[in-house]
Amino acid sequence: MADSILYNEDCIRSMKRLANGSIDLILTDPPYNLGNFMKGRDTNLKKMRDNFFVAAGWDNLSFEDWEKSMDSFFEESVRVLKNGGAMIVFMAIIKVESLIKIAERHGLYYKTTGIWHKLNPMPRNMNLHFVNSTEAWVYFTYKKKTGTFNNDGKVLHDFIETGVAANGERKFGKHPTQKPVQLMEFFVKVLTNEGETVLDPFMGSGSAGVAAKLNNRNFIGVEINEDYFQIATRRIQEVKE
Ligand SMILES: C[S@@+](CC[C@H](N)C(=O)[O-])C[C@H]1O[C@@H](n2cnc3c(N)ncnc32)[C@H](O)[C@@H]1O
Repeated sequence: MADSILYNEDCIRSMKRLANGSIDLILTDPPYNLGNFMKGRDTNLKKMRDNFFVAAGWDNLSFEDWEKSMDSFFEESVRVLKNGGAMIVFMAIIKVESLIKIAERHGLYYKTTGIWHKLNPMPRNMNLHFVNSTEAWVYFTYKKKTGTFNNDGKVLHDFIETGVAANGERKFGKHPTQKPVQLMEFFVKVLTNEGETVLDPFMGSGSAGVAAKLNNRNFIGVEINEDYFQIATRRIQEVKE
């Protein structure tokens, strides 16, 4: 039976309680540091308030403060990862280089930058510009140049296409940047084995936790916002053992 342990607090605080070398995969989607950038650009912010991450308020740090927060996150990440453990960090494409620089300072081995393509993105301002339908994910390993890679003999591309999270995945409440479970399951299955442990320090609505539990992996999830934490808890509890 797989265990799930969830914390409603700042992730650095929770990570400090985890044992050295106890995590096989960190699968996470931290703030992208786009809040202030987007505020200066969006023409239709009021209409989109309900479901737009800029309005949610958790991505408003200056670049310098965001860099410090990512520094602390990677410092704790390398302490808790096993040798040969992996990290998948979702990121806005324009921030990938900054992210890799910070990760490498902590000894992570950079492997791949891949793309998640959303087949049905929100058509925001579709008559004014190219609709954003992509996010990057960055793959690192720790202490070894390869880790678990369950490709079952297939060629796995660095370009993954899925729909956005379906309504059924939002029945306990909405999160503005909720990842579909199918996407998270892909990484859980390729990068870990049954019975291993996945950590998501920025779990939002808990999609990584649902993916881990569905695949018989242990999960540790952290979310600072109480409303999102409740959504994540209910979604993960709902998955049958
Ligand atoms: C990009 S969202 C993650 C969405 C998630 N992947 C999902 O599928 O719902 C980032 C989340 O990190 C949370 N967060 C921001 N700073 C945090 C911190 N210091 N510790 C824990 N959670 C934090 C935010 O509240 C937000 O829900």
